Parts: sequence; C-alpha cells; structure tokens
Amino acid sequence: MPTRSRITGTGMAVPDCIVDNHLLSRCMSTSDEWIVQRTGISERRVSPDTYRMLLRLAAAPDKTAYMRDVKDRGFDGNIDSSLTVSDLAVEASRMALEHAGLTAEALDCIVESSTLPDFAYPATGCVTQGKLGLTSTPVFNLAQGCAGFVYGLSLADQFIRGGMYKRVLVIGAELLSSAFDYTDAGRDMAVLFADGAGAAVLEAHEATGAEPRGLISHHLHSDGSAIDALTGEICGSSTFPPVSKKKIDDGRTRPRMNGRAVFVHAVRRVREVVQECLDANGLPADDIDLFIFHQANLRIVESMAQSFKISEPRMHNNIQRYGNTAAASVPICLHEAVMGGRMKEGDLVMLVAFGTGFSWGATLIRW
Ligand code: UT7
Repeated sequence: MPTRSRITGTGMAVPDCIVDNHLLSRCMSTSDEWIVQRTGISERRVSPDTYRMLLRLAAAPDKTAYMRDVKDRGFDGNIDSSLTVSDLAVEASRMALEHAGLTAEALDCIVESSTLPDFAYPATGCVTQGKLGLTSTPVFNLAQGCAGFVYGLSLADQFIRGGMYKRVLVIGAELLSSAFDYTDAGRDMAVLFADGAGAAVLEAHEATGAEPRGLISHHLHSDGSAIDALTGEICGSSTFPPVSKKKIDDGRTRPRMNGRAVFVHAVRRVREVVQECLDANGLPADDIDLFIFHQANLRIVESMAQSFKISEPRMHNNIQRYGNTAAASVPICLHEAVMGGRMKEGDLVMLVAFGTGFSWGATLIRW
C-alpha cells in the first residue's frame, strides 16, 4: 500500500492588537471606504510594537517627522521587538501539535517559511525549533513569500511519500508590520499586510480504497523576472553594506510593491494554477468542495470565484479580519476551516497561493 500524508493537526496565532481602518486613516491619507472597496479588509492584527507606534503616529502633528524619528532612534529609543515572527510560529506550532495529539519531540522534520525573519541568519525555522525545545530535529527554511506554506506542504509530502520522515510540521509565519511606513509614503502596502502564523502537522498513513485521504498533488511555479514588482531589500546583500544610514534615508529598507502589476499577475497565475490542478486530476471545478485562496485581496478571490463559478459556501475567506498575512494566510484559513467544521471526511480541498518572487502554487487534498 502506498504511503500518503494526511494533515492531522492545524494551528494558528495572531497578535492580540487589532488595527481597524479608522486608526490607519488617522496615520495616512486613506479611508475605511477605500480600503474595504479595494481590498476587502476591515481590520488586521499587528505586533504590540507596531500597535503602540500607530497610536503615537495617529496623534503626531507631523507624521513624516515622527516616522523619521522612529527610524533614527528606534521606537522610544528601543530597537528590540517585544514579539518576533518565531514567537508567532511557536504558538501556531504548539496548537497544531496539540490538535494532532503529538509533542514536538515526535516530529521528524520542520519546514518553515517566513518573509521577514527574526534574523538574517540563522533562519526563522531554526529559531522556532529551538524555542520548541528541540535540539536535533532537521529544519528546512523557505523564503517563498505568500506561497511559502503551499511550497512547504509539497516538500513535507515528498519526504513522507518517499519514506524519509513520518511526521513533519509545516509553518507559515509572518511579522511584516514592523517594516512598513505607515505614512502616505507607504500606504499601499501598510493597509494590506499584517502579522500572523499558521501551522499544520502532516503524518504518514497507508493509503486504502480507491480515493485515499491525504495530499494528492502539488503544482508549483516561480517567475524571477519580476522581482521589482514586490521586493524588500531590508538588510540584503543587494546593497553594500547591507544596512547604511544612506539606505535608510533613501527608503530602500522599506518594502516596495507595484500593486497594480502584482494584482494583474496574481489574477492570471492563480487562475492558471487552479486550472492546472484541476486538469492534472481530471476534475471539474464543481468537484472541489472547498477552496482556500491566499488572502491577498478580496477582489482577487472574487475574480477566481467568478472564473470557476465558486459559490460562497465553497470558499473560506478571512481577509476582512486579518488582512494579508502572506505565508500565514493559507494555514490560518485552513485552521479556521477545520475548527468551523467546513470539511468532512473525503472532501476535496484546494489550497492556492501567489506572492513575491513571483512564486505561486496549488495543492489538492482529499480530507
Ligand atoms: O500577497 C502578495 C501578493 N500581493 C497582492 O496580490 C497585492 C495586489 N495588489 C493589490 O491588492 C492592489 O493593487 C492594492 C490594494 C495594493 C491597490 O489597489 P489598486 O486598486 O490596485 O490601487 P492602485 O495602486 O491602482 O491605486 C489607485 C489610487 C492611486 O491614486 P491615483 O494615482 O489614482 O491618484 C493610489 O495612489 O489609489 C491610491 N492609493 C490609496 N488611496 C487610499 C494607494 N494606496 C492607497 C490607500 N488609501 N491605502
């Protein structure tokens, strides 16, 4: 009997601090109406540091001067974060392990993806592993942007199918809010992205029956010709030295996005990869019981719903409450869907993501 991987536990973590569109509109020239209409987002979760900074920024008479001061001196003269991306990854992982009925020690491997890590090195997966109390479990670190969790699932699935590992934890975690400019200069990205983490435990099982449960197929792509459309130089080696006062003054430590270009690519590539996944499995879109799309922008998801005639009950969206949490968005949706009883045994579930790189992909699962 062939070995298949099944998701046996899911988890999520988001910071407690809620930022609604009204608070953002006190920091930059935007409005609740603009954000809801263009993105579908009403509120998002951010780290306590970002939240406190936003409250100060909202009250500051000169927003640009206040953001410059934060860049020059740190927030209140302190540059240490009170919450890091690995903290969120650990919380989501513990929940996924608990749901799977496992301890961290039972894991054979961890696959982690984050866009903005705790450190340039070591990678966040290693930091997370250490915080889980592990000292020799292998860790794979991905930096696949919003597609990170879907990429991570494919890797974990191959390890399990090939017999190398039996229990793999896959994590998508992000703490992006600390890097944005919350004045007019950064408003396109600042209203969109937010913080959170999601995780899933995959376990080996022997496939039985004509339609065995578990991960069925993965369809992955990247296009490195468009890196300028969505990029964050932050402390990368694209500049010499990686961080300088000039780099900060020139705004090159801030993430940059050509929103319109990313939007167009996302709609095209997501549609293509959904079709590819359906064709590879000989399925019409109607046969998919639940679609979980990366929560980049509600308009992208609505466009897919229109193309593939997906009714509301066959999707799970939460961008309204969490914004775009990049690599965390698919596993957070997955966890909510599990907890909400959205899938029953035997259902077909498709996970789809697109992000920086560009990298995108789809995974088909029989629940
Ligand atoms: O997760 C990874 C993949 N990421 C994505 O898929 C994101 C894809 N892109 C998007 O979601 C959208 O492009 C955005 C939400 C970022 C922007 O929406 P849009 O409808 O594409 O707006 P736009 O960039 O075409 O800008 C329209 C106008 C511009 O003003 P002008 O030039 O028409 O005067 C912008 O300056 O809206 C302005 N604008 C804003 N106005 C109010 C941009 N950001 C904001 C804002 N509030 N936050």
